[in-house]
Amino acid sequence: MATLWHGRFVEGPAETLQALNDSLPFDQRLFREDIAGSRAHVRMLARVGLLDEADAAAVLDALDAVEAEMAGGTFEFAPSDEDVHTAVERRVTEIAGDAGARLHTGRSRNDQVATDLRLWVRRELAELAALVGGLQATLAARADDAGGAYLPGYTHLQQAQPVLLAHHLLAHGWALARDVDRLLDARDRADVSPLGAGALAGSSLPLDPDGTAAELGFAARFENSLDAVSDRDFVADALYALAMLGIHLSRLGEELVLWSTDEFGFVGLDDGFSTGSSMLPQKKNPDVAELARGKAGRLIGDLTGLLASLKGLPLAYNKDLQEDKEPLFDACDTVRLTLLALDGMVATLVFHTDRMAEAADSPYAAATDLAEFLVAAGMPFREAHAVVGTHVRAALAGEGTLADLVAADERLGSEAAALLVPGATVVRRTTPGGAGPEPVAVQRHRFAERLAAQVARIGD
Ligand code: ARG
Repeated sequence: MATLWHGRFVEGPAETLQALNDSLPFDQRLFREDIAGSRAHVRMLARVGLLDEADAAAVLDALDAVEAEMAGGTFEFAPSDEDVHTAVERRVTEIAGDAGARLHTGRSRNDQVATDLRLWVRRELAELAALVGGLQATLAARADDAGGAYLPGYTHLQQAQPVLLAHHLLAHGWALARDVDRLLDARDRADVSPLGAGALAGSSLPLDPDGTAAELGFAARFENSLDAVSDRDFVADALYALAMLGIHLSRLGEELVLWSTDEFGFVGLDDGFSTGSSMLPQKKNPDVAELARGKAGRLIGDLTGLLASLKGLPLAYNKDLQEDKEPLFDACDTVRLTLLALDGMVATLVFHTDRMAEAADSPYAAATDLAEFLVAAGMPFREAHAVVGTHVRAALAGEGTLADLVAADERLGSEAAALLVPGATVVRRTTPGGAGPEPVAVQRHRFAERLAAQVARIGD
C-alpha cells in the first residue's frame, strides 16, 4: 500500500498503527471544506505562477468530480486513505494525473486540516445558533399564550414569590440569548485562515496566504505559522459555548421533569414528546427533558477531554491534535438533536395554570408584600420583616389565619390583608426586569428585539 510518505520508508504500515492512526471514519464529514480549501489553494498557486492555467483547470475539474462522488455516495475509498485529505488528493491525482500531483505544492495537512476545521466550525456554529433561536422563539410564543398565568417562583426550591409564567419562560430565553452570543463569538474566533502556514514554518515558494484567506471568506489570515497549525483554541471555545448551552438546556429539562411530576402537576406532556413504561401502565415519562439533563454531562466531557488533549503539547502540530474532531462533532450533533427535541417538547406541552395558581396562592408567598406595605408606611425594612415574620410564625402555629392576624394588626389592617387575596401580589412586581405584567410586557418587547439582532448577527 502506497502511503503519503512511501519514498522515505521501506516497510508498509502495521495494521494496528493504521487502525489507530486513521481519522477517515470521522473526518470524512469535512470533505466539502477540504475541497473548498483545495480550490482556494489551487487558484492561489495559479495566480502566483506555481501552477499553469491548464493544470489548475484540470485540478479544479477533478475537485468538482470528487465533490460530486463524495456527495453522491459513489466515492470509493482506498485502504491507503488515512484521512479525508489523503482520500481527496489521491482521487484528484487519479483523475487529473500529473496536474493532481501538484495540488499539495506549498501545503501540509497541518495547515489543511486546521483550515478545514475552521471552515466547518464557522458554518456549524451559525446553524446551531439559528436552532437556539428556534427554541427561544418557542419560549416567547408560549410566554405570549401564558397571558396573566402565574406560578410560585422558587429559591432553594422553596416557594418564594409568585411570578408570571411568561417571566419564568423568558428567563430561559435570556440564558439562551447568551448562548447564541457565545456561539457567535466562537464562530468569529474560528474565522482566521491558517492556510499557507505549511507544515509549521511557511514556505520558500511565493504563496499568498492573504489571497487564500480572502477567497475562503475568512476575516483574517494567521500571524504566525507555528501558532496557525497548533492552535485549537477555536475548538475549545466552541466546546465551551456548547457545554454552557447544554447546561442551560439541562436546567430547563430539570424544571420540566419537576413540573411534570404528580407532585407539581404544572405541565402535561404531549404523547409525541414523552415515553411510556414497559411495566407500569400509568406512566408517562419526560425522557426528552431527562436526556437534555443527561447530555450536558457528555458535553462537559467533550470540552474537558479536548482541554486535556491540548494541555502540555509542544509547538507545533502533534498527532494528539487529531483528537480535536470527535469531541467537536459529538458536541455539535448532541446539541443539535437535543435542541430540536426540547423545542418540540416545549411547543407541545400543556400548562396546568390552575395548579400553578393554586400553588402560588399560599398566603405566605405574599409575606414580602406585607413587609413592603409596612416599609411604604415608613417602617424600617428589618423591623417590617420581623413584624410579618411574627405573624407567619403565629399562623403556622395555628393561632389564626395569616389574613386574620394581619387584619387585626393596626399597623397592617384590612388594606394589607387584601394583599393575601389570590393573584393580588404578582401584579405588584412593577420594577424594570421584574416578574409582574407591566415589566414583563416591556421585557417581551426587548426580547423580540434581541431575537431580531441575533438573526442579523448570524447572517453576518
Ligand atoms: N488527520 C490529521 C488530523 O486530523 C491530519 C493532519 C495530519 N498531519 C500530519 N502531520 N500527520 O490532525
